[in-house]
Amino acid sequence: MIDWKDKREFWISGAKVIDPETAKMRTGSVLVQKGAIAEIVWQKAVETELPVLDATGYVLTPGFVDIHTHLREPGYEEKETIATGTAAAAAGGYTSVVCMANTDPVVDEPSVVEFITKRAQQVGRCRVLIAAALTKGLGGEVINEYFYLKSAGAVALSDDGKFVTNSQVMRAALEYAGFHGLTVISHCEDAFLVENSQIHEGYVSTRLGLKGAPAAAEEIAIYRDIRLAQLTGSPLHIAHVSTAGAIDLIRKAKRKGLPVTAEVTPHHLTMNDELLETYDRNLKVNPPLRGKRDSAVLLDAIRDGAIDCIATDHAPHNEIDKQVEFDMAPPGMIGLETAFAQLHTELVVPGKLDLVDLVRLMTVRPAEVLRIQGGRLRKGEPADLALIDPGEEWVLEKHLIRSKSKNTPLIGKTFTGRIRGVFLEGKWQSAILEEG
Ligand code: DOR
Ligand code: ZN
Repeated sequence: MIDWKDKREFWISGAKVIDPETAKMRTGSVLVQKGAIAEIVWQKAVETELPVLDATGYVLTPGFVDIHTHLREPGYEEKETIATGTAAAAAGGYTSVVCMANTDPVVDEPSVVEFITKRAQQVGRCRVLIAAALTKGLGGEVINEYFYLKSAGAVALSDDGKFVTNSQVMRAALEYAGFHGLTVISHCEDAFLVENSQIHEGYVSTRLGLKGAPAAAEEIAIYRDIRLAQLTGSPLHIAHVSTAGAIDLIRKAKRKGLPVTAEVTPHHLTMNDELLETYDRNLKVNPPLRGKRDSAVLLDAIRDGAIDCIATDHAPHNEIDKQVEFDMAPPGMIGLETAFAQLHTELVVPGKLDLVDLVRLMTVRPAEVLRIQGGRLRKGEPADLALIDPGEEWVLEKHLIRSKSKNTPLIGKTFTGRIRGVFLEGKWQSAILEEG
């Protein structure tokens, strides 16, 4: 163990430092003091008596912020716990995650918010922020008490995993959420159109004989929610956008100046339904992997700002859950540990996306969407930082995965670019298992 890791005051010098707010990457050095960023200088070396971490050759960015994570605790600790989920987050460069409410019990009472907060303080390897449920038990019928959920610490509201079918309920939810200054994160899939669906409806679903979910299911739901955001004037964030038609709707809403934001997942950006020919259950997600053209349009949308940010939808399910008939397998794949490496490998290395833009989409942009702290490189802010080796090639092996569930189609894949670790309030959390 190198001793600067345990120091309260040290310099990280010589890294390529990314400031996502100004969208600049320059060689610089950062002073960490008592857990905060005390100084940023745009020079390679510093003269100091303090310990210095020579980060030459590395990229230093604010820790990533994931506004869509399923931590599964309480209730599904066999899939993930706050301890394992936040360890996975830290290994992926994240210093903050927003966890979703589909736990057991559902996060629809202040006591559940308090439980998660307390547990995260005890065992968390990154900050845990909470999206409480929009409706009682995620039932889509009775609105929760947002004032008390916010007072307990919830930073957003979502019935993620489920669409709120009743438009009157959604209207009222948006009205009350807006009143309390909370953004509603909507899972947009028309429940009837996607009933029993397994993958995207198209050529592949026909060939494989699997029931498809049409792009229209997502687009109808998004249109309704945009219209309700317009009616109420309340902020709406659309989760895991996956179709080209959805991008059209979001572009139009933004042009009108409506309070609408949207996220895309690494898997929808880099994979498509042709992969389903393997019947790999780990490729089954909601919304489903779409066609090639959809992912191409999603890429355009993160480049030009139609999509605001990248969020993982890290959805752990264990092997026993997934090793069943395709139609019985629960949807979801893990993503925290591979998000950066996958997007760096697939988009940045081939020149389709700038590294600074990728970092913006994973730091300041998601933080702005939910109006939360983190994701900025600012003097005085907590020293939540990610240290990245952009050139390292590595293979994702199952035993390297820190998440309790291993449900990713990326095992065995070679990536370029690796998170070496994060500083959480100045404290080093290694991403590499061998280093402990
Ligand atoms: O694939 C998904 N899995 N999509 C969701 O919206 C929910 C998630 C889960 O909770 O497993
Ligand atoms: Zn989700």
